[in-house]
Formats: sequence, C-alpha cells, structure tokens
Amino acid sequence: MGDMYVTYGRFSKSDDAAVKLYVVSGAEHEIQNLEGDYLEWNKVLSMFDGRHPISAVCEKNKQLSPNDIHELIKALEDSKLAFKVNSGADFLSGDEAILEIEDLQAQLLHDYLYKNKFWLAMQQPETVPENVYYGMAIENYHFLFRESWFDSPVLNFVASTKARLIMNEFYSEEYGHDELIFRALQTLGITRENIKEAIPLPETLALCNALAYWAANDPLFFFTTMGILEGKDIEVDSFILAMQNSKKINASFIKPILDHANINIGAEHGVLTRELFREIPVVTHEQLKQMRANTHIFVELYDNFHSAVWEHYSTSSDLLRTLSGITLEGTVNASQY
Ligand SMILES: [Fe+2]
Ligand SMILES: [Fe+2]
Repeated sequence: MGDMYVTYGRFSKSDDAAVKLYVVSGAEHEIQNLEGDYLEWNKVLSMFDGRHPISAVCEKNKQLSPNDIHELIKALEDSKLAFKVNSGADFLSGDEAILEIEDLQAQLLHDYLYKNKFWLAMQQPETVPENVYYGMAIENYHFLFRESWFDSPVLNFVASTKARLIMNEFYSEEYGHDELIFRALQTLGITRENIKEAIPLPETLALCNALAYWAANDPLFFFTTMGILEGKDIEVDSFILAMQNSKKINASFIKPILDHANINIGAEHGVLTRELFREIPVVTHEQLKQMRANTHIFVELYDNFHSAVWEHYSTSSDLLRTLSGITLEGTVNASQY
C-alpha cells in the first residue's frame, strides 16, 4: 500500500486499559479495543506525517498488528482526524494556515486597533495625559500577573513534543515579568499592598479570561494570538517610544518597561506563533474557518482593552481601582450579584 497519511493527534495516558485517548487540538476522542501500548502507537502516529507510505509505517512498527494500523488510520480518516495525501481532502499545513490568519490579523489590527483612541493619541505623545501612560502599565501588570492562567493550559500540548518544548521554554522565560512592570509602578510610590488590592479594568480581565478559555479549549487558536501579544510587528514597543517622546515620564519609570520589551525582542517571542505552527502538519478548513472567526473576536477584545485604558485613565485622577473605591462610588450594585 503506497498511500500516505497525515495526522497530528497523539494518544495520551488513559486510566482505562480498554480505551485509548486520542487528543487533537484540545479535544479528546476515545478509541476502544486497540491492543498495544499507547507510546508504541504514538510512534506509529508520528510516522503519519505525509511522507511515509502506510507499508513503511507497518514495517517500522512490527510489534503492532499491521491490520490494526490500517484500521486505525482508516477510522481516523473517516472521522476527519487524518487525511490521505493528494486525495483532494480539505486540509492545509500549519505554515499555510498561519499565513492566512496573519493576513487577517494585520487587516483587522489596521482597521480597528490602530484607529482607536489610544493608538491615535500615541501619535501625539505630548498631548496624552500622564495617567494614560501609567494606566497602561497598571493594566499591563494585571495582564502579566495573570499570564499563567492562559499559558499553563497549553504546557501539556499532546499533539507535538517540539511545540510542547517551545511552550515550556516560553513559560519559564515569561515567569516574573509582572515584577518588572511592578518595578516601574514602584517609582510612582505604588506599594505591593496597593497593587494587591487593585483590580483590573473589566476589559483587561475579559482579555485574560478569553485567552485562558482558548488555551484550554482551542490551543491552536491560542497559539495564533501569541505573536500579537508578544509584539511580532514592532521593534521597540510604540507605547514606550511615545512615553519617551512625551517628555512627561520619568526615565526610571520607563526603564523596567523597556527592559521587558527587550526581553521579548532578545528571546524572539514575536516569532513564537510561527515556530509553533511549523510543528502542526494538519489544519482542516473547518478549523481555519473557526480560527478566522475567533480572530475577529480576539482583535475586538484587544481593541477594547486599549480603548478602555484610554477611556478610564484619561479621565480618572485615581490611578488604582480598588473594590472598596468602586463600591463607594456606587458603580457596583451589590444586589446584582
Ligand atoms: Fe513577558
Ligand atoms: Fe514575552
């Protein structure tokens, strides 16, 4: 048999010996009565990379029944979890898929984000109220403080060992970045106690929650967001340049924020998304469609985050939002909860 198949799911350890769990892009599929160790089967799956004919896969994995190998790949194909190469089936490679998504991201960022009040104001840095610069750092602190929520669900990304290693390395590099931003906030007299009591803007929390949801339920889509969040397109963050050019912000406040941006550049975090997608051999058209739809929502959330920083901090004299402060102002009505 010369047919070649491509799939990127893998089996993960199952508590029930009669059931194997095939995991692909956050979803688990139960496969019953498949004899043999799941790790042996993962060796088989790794050869379904579109380059090995099924006969070679059977030849290399003689400890497993060739009949079972044929049946498994057929069952996966029937469930649209594996695809026969050159069969006209509906899939594209990770490399191809991410280029499509990046095109859409660029268009949406251009059409919405860069035209919002925050980024338009940054083009005239001297006119931006000081608190907007501080507020952006505060919301960035809240975001980074919660980064483990949304990075940790993909640490056990089963489908690719290489992608898993890239994510784990990234996770350790990101650790403690909230502290860098806190160092900037300390120059304003904000203490650890103050920041502990402070709460983010709802738009900041919405972004964190959405990312955590996607990381847990749609890791592939989550990977697409990382390039934007890590500043793929910008050499030095335009926000930092604006702070410097505003001539209002102390260099000691800017320094730790600049250090953070330079870590991203030095560790090449902006190219993470592409590195991860290089390890994904199959993206179905159905998945691509879903990712395109989610990209609209993600850019909207990201746009809302920046707009909210502008709306809140350009008018508020208090830098830190606290729950007690909000309740006193009567903005939160306890009976609603
Ligand atoms: Fe970071
Ligand atoms: Fe980073």
